[in-house]
Amino acid sequence: MLKNDLLLRAAKGEEVERAPVWLMRQAGRVLPEYRATRAKTKNFIEFVKNPELACEVTIQPVDILGVDAAIIFSDILVIPEAMGLPYQMIEAKGPWFENTVKNKSDVEKLKIAEAGDLDYVMKALQLTKKGLNDRVPLIGFAGAPWTLFAYMIEGSGSKTFSKAKQFLYTQPEAAHLLLEKITQSTINYLKGQVAAGADLLQLFDSWAGVLSEAMYYEFSLKYISKICDALSPLVSVTVFAKDAHYSVKKISETSCSSIGLDWTIDPKTARAQAGNKTLQGNADPCLLYADEKKIISEAHNMLKAFGKDRYICNLGHGLYPDLDKEKVKLFVNVVKEYKW
Ligand code: CP3
Repeated sequence: MLKNDLLLRAAKGEEVERAPVWLMRQAGRVLPEYRATRAKTKNFIEFVKNPELACEVTIQPVDILGVDAAIIFSDILVIPEAMGLPYQMIEAKGPWFENTVKNKSDVEKLKIAEAGDLDYVMKALQLTKKGLNDRVPLIGFAGAPWTLFAYMIEGSGSKTFSKAKQFLYTQPEAAHLLLEKITQSTINYLKGQVAAGADLLQLFDSWAGVLSEAMYYEFSLKYISKICDALSPLVSVTVFAKDAHYSVKKISETSCSSIGLDWTIDPKTARAQAGNKTLQGNADPCLLYADEKKIISEAHNMLKAFGKDRYICNLGHGLYPDLDKEKVKLFVNVVKEYKW
């Protein structure tokens, strides 16, 4: 039995005493403790593949920041790698793929990943579950198919992801085949995460915002919906589609339990579109550069606007590495101490 199950109750729309709070990228460079652990390995990928170190940095924010959940330390790009497309993480630049997908025959060569191909993540989850000792829930995650597709075609980050979009316009059949293979791989992977101890799952669609609304539904949400249908009988699933707030109503029609929001949508507008789904978000991470007074007043405004029920407090995207850890802690404490 979990000692603190606020997150799981909020995701299911059950009664809570207060809103739970966790932060995207809470295990990351904002914590000096993370940087110290990270320095023990040569590079990011070696770090991700080391279950003991992944476990250590997953638990750090629970101890240091006092958040109401842990999110397993890994990366969304482990799925392309398991399908046959390895990546590198280049310091200060981001992901880079030596080989990319260019046509249907490249898609056909990729395998559908099984949970066993990602044994290091399963081991990290099992160790973390033990290490947490039922203090807080453990969140598992994966990239949404469209976001993974975008990296697999583009080969790196991009402002426009125009190569990935070109593929959608010029080779739609191959695009759907690849999205389907990513979807099946992700379902296998997430089922494995649940078996290894994940209490809730989040899908990150970080590049939702580069697609038009119609293309978003055709090439992204359709596949997210399949993943939700496969996993939601097991655990609650949160869908976070960055920069796609036009899609809140459509996301609410999937079998997800919660919808993650970035800061470009007002809480009241989101509520009006989200039916009875739980909402998660959505403070601008840059708010944490402000002075204490401003952080407190903005956090209070946000909590009031979302209300206590069906709400998970978070930022609208991940923490930036140069934020002050003390301000991050302040934000978490303000949420936990709020008088509802
Ligand atoms: O605390 C957590 O949120 C859990 C760990 C986590 C990481 N990546 C660790 C990480 C999670 C949930 C992710 C997801 C992820 N990875 C996403 C979706 C979320 C988002 O940010 O939109 C994306 C797009 C990626 C791909 C990725 N990984 C990029 C573009 C980068 C480089 C950017 C950067 O900040 O340097 C990464 C590297 C990465 N993944 C870091 C961390 C902590 C930083 C690298 C480091 O420690 O050297």
